[in-house]
Amino acid sequence: MARDGAVYICQSCGSAHAKWAGQCSACGAWNSLVEELQSRPPGALAPSKAARARGLAFETLEQLTPPPPRIITGVGEFDRVCGGGVVPGSAILLGGDPGVGKSTLLLQVAAQAARRGARCAYISGEEAVEQIRARAHRMGLADAPVRLAAETSLRQIVDGLKKDAFDLVVIDSIQTLWSDAHEAGPGSVTQVRAAAGELARLAKSRSVAVILVGHVTKEGTIAGPRVIEHMVDAVLSFEGERGYPFRVLRGAKNRFGATDEIGVFEMADAGLSEVANPSALFLNTAGERAAGAAVFAGIEGSRPVLVEFQALVAPSAYGTPRRAVVGWDSGRLAMVLAVLEARCGLGFGDRDVYLNVAGGLRISEPAADLAAAAALASSALDQALPQDCVVFGEISLSGDIRPVSRMDARMKEAAKLGFRQVLGPAGVEAAAQMRVTGAARLADAIGRIGDGAWT
Ligand code: TYD
Ligand code: MG
Repeated sequence: MARDGAVYICQSCGSAHAKWAGQCSACGAWNSLVEELQSRPPGALAPSKAARARGLAFETLEQLTPPPPRIITGVGEFDRVCGGGVVPGSAILLGGDPGVGKSTLLLQVAAQAARRGARCAYISGEEAVEQIRARAHRMGLADAPVRLAAETSLRQIVDGLKKDAFDLVVIDSIQTLWSDAHEAGPGSVTQVRAAAGELARLAKSRSVAVILVGHVTKEGTIAGPRVIEHMVDAVLSFEGERGYPFRVLRGAKNRFGATDEIGVFEMADAGLSEVANPSALFLNTAGERAAGAAVFAGIEGSRPVLVEFQALVAPSAYGTPRRAVVGWDSGRLAMVLAVLEARCGLGFGDRDVYLNVAGGLRISEPAADLAAAAALASSALDQALPQDCVVFGEISLSGDIRPVSRMDARMKEAAKLGFRQVLGPAGVEAAAQMRVTGAARLADAIGRIGDGAWT
């Protein structure tokens, strides 16, 4: 029998259960239920007397007072992903794997914003003040008037933030905070949720922008930031492949801007540097383009980005051939392989297939279908694509190549980087300096790659 008041919270998805079980019935995670005592801050749900007397106040849709100006932090890529600076009074969650560079990024954001006159605080529950200071020195930020603190008690933090006026506060990380109103340990769903709720309320009531760091672990042992995504105004994720210096900041949710923008950074010894023109970054420009490589002219957010797709098709030594893909969707790879097989007569049944997006970028645009297919066919047929060719186009299950969005912007960017031809959908009007090899059907495009016949 469950004890009175006891509830079992899944540490992976946050669902509540009356009984303990080995597997969460909501998300299917194993060994994720942890007993937590339900407690509610006294009077949290009861409005005050004055509020009751006032009743529910309605307003009009018409905006009478202009919104307060955004805080421009000065880290351009960060500001852009936020939708043009940070909105005062908003709560932002920055998620990412441990070690990806979240603390580095936010120290830079706080320091740059402070240099521009914003009142900034950086509160760390993970590192000692000395450590943060040493890092700031190394990054050349020691002179920035950021107020530093090392603290994990939610009550101390909230009291401290109420005493002084701030514009921007970084909390690193939400998993280290604990509130004495709850008995569960730091990092548990109850604590993370309580801390995020409290800080988001503080953000609104004192009009200070609060940026929360949240670690994501695959094991789900630390309560993932999933459970607080709905409490914050914006969710950003910081991503990067191990072994590559590039880091991509992405918006997953944003109440104040578009979510398809990305910010690109490069991690170096002196911190993160912004990459304003990421196009050339993900290209392998050294030497001849080998068989199996195709340059995709993509769009990330509002900017065109050129990336190289690399494929290797090799005879399989095992009964079940391998399919490995990095930086692209494996379901999409299976679809492209099936279309190549059914509509173009290219068989992969007894061959291993490896597909890699160079530079550690993750591509999710359907417009990349043709680039992946071209790389695969180029490797299978051992025919390199021309050095100066970029590829884009969406592939349908029937084997047609469909036009994609913003083709002109893609071609212009390619032309800027010295590319002169495009393999793409039929009927595309060429941009200046570019020549288009259009194909209505995938079989035609693959035929051209096989013949090596380019006009
Ligand atoms: P960090 O910001 O501590 O990551 P997170 O807060 O997401 O856990 O950064 C961790 C990594 O970044 C660490 O392995 C070292 C590297 N790094 C640099 O390469 N250069 C630098 O200037 C800094 C500060 C960190
Ligand atoms: Mg950190």
